Amino acid sequence: MTSPAPRRILVTSALPYANGPLHLGHIIETIQTDIWVRAQKLFGHDCRYLCADDTHGTPIMLKAQQEGITPEQLIERIAESHRADFADFLIGFDVFHSTHSEENRRMSAEMFQRLDAAGLISRKTIQQAYDPEKQMFLPDRFIKGECPKCGAADQYGDNCEKCGATYSPTELKNPRSVLSGATPVERDSEHYFFNLPAMESALKDWLDDDRVQPAIRAKLQEWFDSGLQAWDISRDAPYFGFEIPGAPGKFFYVWLDAPIGYIGAFLKLAESAGLNFEDYWGKDSKTELYHFIGKDIAYFHTLFWPAMLMGAGLRTPTAIFAHGFLTLNGEKMSKSRGTFIQARTFLNHLNPEALRYYFAAKLGSSIEDIDLSLDDFRLRVNADLVGKVVNIASRCAGFIHKQFDSQLASQLSDPHLHQQLCAGAERIRQRYEARETAQAMREIMALADLTNQYIDEHKPWALAKSADTLAAVQGICTDGLNAFRILMTYLSPVLPGMSQAAADFLNLPALRWDAIDTPLVGRAIAPYQPLITRIEQSATDALLAAAAEEAAAMMPTPPPAATPTNPIDPIAPQIDIEAFSAVDLRVAQIVAAEQVEGAAKLLRLVLDIGEDKPRQVFAGIKSAYDPASLVGRLTVMVANLKPRQMKFGLSEGMVLAAGGDGGLYILSPDEGARPGMRVK
Ligand code: 2FM
Ligand code: ZN
Repeated sequence: MTSPAPRRILVTSALPYANGPLHLGHIIETIQTDIWVRAQKLFGHDCRYLCADDTHGTPIMLKAQQEGITPEQLIERIAESHRADFADFLIGFDVFHSTHSEENRRMSAEMFQRLDAAGLISRKTIQQAYDPEKQMFLPDRFIKGECPKCGAADQYGDNCEKCGATYSPTELKNPRSVLSGATPVERDSEHYFFNLPAMESALKDWLDDDRVQPAIRAKLQEWFDSGLQAWDISRDAPYFGFEIPGAPGKFFYVWLDAPIGYIGAFLKLAESAGLNFEDYWGKDSKTELYHFIGKDIAYFHTLFWPAMLMGAGLRTPTAIFAHGFLTLNGEKMSKSRGTFIQARTFLNHLNPEALRYYFAAKLGSSIEDIDLSLDDFRLRVNADLVGKVVNIASRCAGFIHKQFDSQLASQLSDPHLHQQLCAGAERIRQRYEARETAQAMREIMALADLTNQYIDEHKPWALAKSADTLAAVQGICTDGLNAFRILMTYLSPVLPGMSQAAADFLNLPALRWDAIDTPLVGRAIAPYQPLITRIEQSATDALLAAAAEEAAAMMPTPPPAATPTNPIDPIAPQIDIEAFSAVDLRVAQIVAAEQVEGAAKLLRLVLDIGEDKPRQVFAGIKSAYDPASLVGRLTVMVANLKPRQMKFGLSEGMVLAAGGDGGLYILSPDEGARPGMRVK
């Protein structure tokens, strides 16, 4: 098998924020990148895969404060969990570093100095919202108020979720700090700006070379048309990040040092692997550089980042590969709907390689969203991996072990099957190269079908019954196992663990691309162990139930202001009487209450609110109440809350309970109230 001349390639995935656990949205991106990188390595190229945690910024600083630990402690804990999750999904980073590293501090300072020396940095005093109680400037997302356009309450400082308007926080009506509830004041502060407009024509030249997908290209055109703006790259103390050299109290904005973190991670790797900086990052570098990202951060990677690299006299990316968002069963993953799946939760219930295969079977080079439909996932993995590929090995291995003392035949019995399998290599290589993994998987499964047909046609189980035809069985099964070897080689970028297990079974150190067309004959194989087992519906159900429970535990999210000394939530923004009247509160009698199997926090309540049929509600009050003690009690429920389909059944409302000190106290009306009465 010949491969094109080796290339030197550097690849990155977006750096996950170190403020929480990974979820499947992170995992689809690293799986896509990892498949691409493993494919390049398989084809013999010198390909290195870098990643790191993105550790700076206000949310991380505040989260650490909230937990009463230092940001360094927080990011260390999160890094551990990220590393473990990635490792268990078999993501083969060559280095996983941190943006809070000496390498990155050095590189950020150097980039800044280079940009400054090139005349691309300016200073300007701007007015910014300041929280007088918390004594800090407020990022837009930490200010809420009424939308200046439509008047909707409780909108963030940058855009309105009701009418879609975008604005600056100073335009909000009745603004307040989400941190303290105080009214923000305007304060002057000197900021540093990167002159992005000065790089416009260089950026356009760079883009002319087909560096981004067509949909991203169109978006870029819109950005150019609406005019590039100087980019504010500094933030005032208190801030968790790198202080700007020569500017005490001023810090690099997290998005400045995050992409530089790609270089920081490279420096870390370079140290152990002996790589040369100029070969990779010098202006004339011949190394290919690819950034895999989500489409939401295209602006940073197609404008700011290449402009910074150009301005600092370094090489620019070869291409940016954006992917779409991950949806779950057709909907956005959502904490409030209980459909937010953390990486670890998935690992606790299902095989990571099954997910790697499913994503591979759905991913292509476009930025379209990808749906993880759990039914489709189960059926696809069972049909393809269990039913087609692994089935070949299990059908053939038994005969070789039992009848032929584990020895493969001394030659293939049907070279034609072998040739057909080998002939797929170049097409499959091209699909991997173009990130068309869904097409690659289809090609591979078509070859698996062909192999199964071959076994069906030759019926080794029938031939094994007679001594006259027994010899043929060895040849047919050797053909089958060679096809299996080739299929698992093709699948090895997607299924690294299974392909290693297949290599062990075939008594090979590894499955190699350059050995595809060399038949494996005249040697012994090892005992066969099933490489993957069927996914049962109970496993995907259990995953959903666990995700719903975790989401319920996370909701409602306490406002970042809730400090340990003040456990009572700040008063929410005012609403008018119409908004309040829209909530239909009813007196409800609890007619039944019971534990919910598999739910750590929920009780199932049956509530009489004077309608023909009682309502079923799942309430997160298990920690506070023995179900038997609730039966007969009156309480108050929200009767017109949209019903919510949970794993355990439909929840048709919500029971009101007070909380805040760790306890839970359901509300009860005074004596005399009757089920169904309106509460107003
Ligand atoms: O959007 C995000 O999750 C960022 N943490 C991605 C950073 S990618 C790179 F620029 F560092
Ligand atoms: Zn609005």
